[in-house]
Amino acid sequence: MRISMKQLNRTYGSLHAVHDISLNIPSNTIYGIIGKSGAGKSTLVRLISLLERPDSGEIYYDDKRVDNLPKDELIAQRRKIGMIFQNFNLFSSRNAAENIAYPMEIAGVHKEAINTRVEELLEVVGLAGRGKAPISTLSGGQMQRVAIARALANHPDVLFCDEATSALDPQTTRSILTLLSDLQKKMNLSVVMITHQMEVVRDACEHVAVLENGSVVEEGKVLDVFAAPASATTKDFLANLAPLVEPDEVKRDDMVRWSDEGGRFTLRFRGDSTGEPVLSRIQKTYDVEFNIRAGGVQRVSGEDVGTLICDIIGESDEVDKAVAALQLSGILVEEEGQ
Ligand SMILES: Nc1ncnc2c1ncn2[C@@H]1O[C@H](COP(=O)(O)OP(=O)(O)OP(=O)(O)O)[C@@H](O)[C@H]1O
Ligand SMILES: [Mg+2]
Repeated sequence: MRISMKQLNRTYGSLHAVHDISLNIPSNTIYGIIGKSGAGKSTLVRLISLLERPDSGEIYYDDKRVDNLPKDELIAQRRKIGMIFQNFNLFSSRNAAENIAYPMEIAGVHKEAINTRVEELLEVVGLAGRGKAPISTLSGGQMQRVAIARALANHPDVLFCDEATSALDPQTTRSILTLLSDLQKKMNLSVVMITHQMEVVRDACEHVAVLENGSVVEEGKVLDVFAAPASATTKDFLANLAPLVEPDEVKRDDMVRWSDEGGRFTLRFRGDSTGEPVLSRIQKTYDVEFNIRAGGVQRVSGEDVGTLICDIIGESDEVDKAVAALQLSGILVEEEGQ
């Protein structure tokens, strides 16, 4: 299911929590919405999940307008929406299976059908045989798995995740993101992932919107945004990107730094150009020398994005030509202080 928003606004008193937001969330993808605390992420997700009405603006699920539905239709529509949260929001008085059963009980599903579906869902989230477990005996990762199973119980078209991994350690985060990616593909879901962690966007999302003070400051394919971040907020998020712990894999995300000094230029190159000997070619053509200070490669949406921090030494017109040649080769060049 595709979701589109047109000029959404929501104010609380004098505070403009969501300010003129227009976004298109394609179907069958994981769409990330990232922003710092207070940026308006949760407010936006409450609007598009129909928990709260906007002051103005329109929301469409495919071609159907949904922000102004009458109450009974709203309830029916909300049943086709799954949600998960940072703090899981499970009933501690119910065991795992009873938590998963809850939305089906509300929807009036027959008891036997509920039981079958609960077993199926426990299996899907990797908790087969754990249905009778009291919630208090489960780890955070397992609780989120129960919450995911519960969110999927009534076969939703869309799953909203508000900081779903923020309370989890890096390895558990990884396993939950993998589960969500698998489920997205298996069930043709649209997933909207609200987060303040760029790692989550990098590892799970295909598209991303960056929010600041209630407005979208950048939007696009994750790969494009990583290769050529436009807003200061995005650059800030990328600069603070921490590698997720992957004990069984070589850690590729660590930036290797040879020197703390210098490094006026940041070069970002993606995909096919990553391994190419562009720098040595340019060094031969122009009277410049590259002095590399730091570098690293990151895996983004299954593609490599390389970053090199370097100085380019030479007469200024030769440096300008070298920079132009880098840009022509598809490399993004950022110069400090420019
Ligand atoms: N019900 C409310 N009443 C008054 N102000 C609110 C309400 N909900 C949100 N706000 C305010 O709107 C702004 C955006 O809040 P929101 O919860 O959407 O941010 P967020 O991006 O989800 O932040 P966080 O990362 O901390 O969860 C904040 O300044 C918040 O205080
Ligand atoms: Mg929030």
